[in-house]
Amino acid sequence: MTDVEEKTEILMDHYRSPHNYGKMESPTAELLEYNPVCGDAVQMFVKLKGNMVEDVKFIGRGCSISQGSASMVTDMARGKSVEEIMGITPQHLLNLIGLPLGPSREKCALLPLNTLQKCLARLGRENVKI
Ligand code: FES
Repeated sequence: MTDVEEKTEILMDHYRSPHNYGKMESPTAELLEYNPVCGDAVQMFVKLKGNMVEDVKFIGRGCSISQGSASMVTDMARGKSVEEIMGITPQHLLNLIGLPLGPSREKCALLPLNTLQKCLARLGRENVKI
């Protein structure tokens, strides 16, 4: 099996059997975002304990790349601090997925990370207001 075949299989496994899929009761923060190009969606739910992500879940609809990536992002985020998640770069996630993606497919792949980071950034602003 080539590296690309192996990475495709990993992504498709996440798509077919997503990790951390479902709504969350009383999350610390949640956010629904759309890919404006296709209308596909990812909603992230985060439960923080102090500054750490104790739990993270998602629901969504869309292509295998966006939904498989959402599953991978939630796996990556659990147990990390808010700062660590805000420091994850698009390239880091694209490297983890490890597939050659064109610009429009990169947007699919990055939708979950963007949603999670916006969700946490918004929470920070709300905290400042309190
Ligand atoms: Fe819509 Fe991929 S085609 S997110």
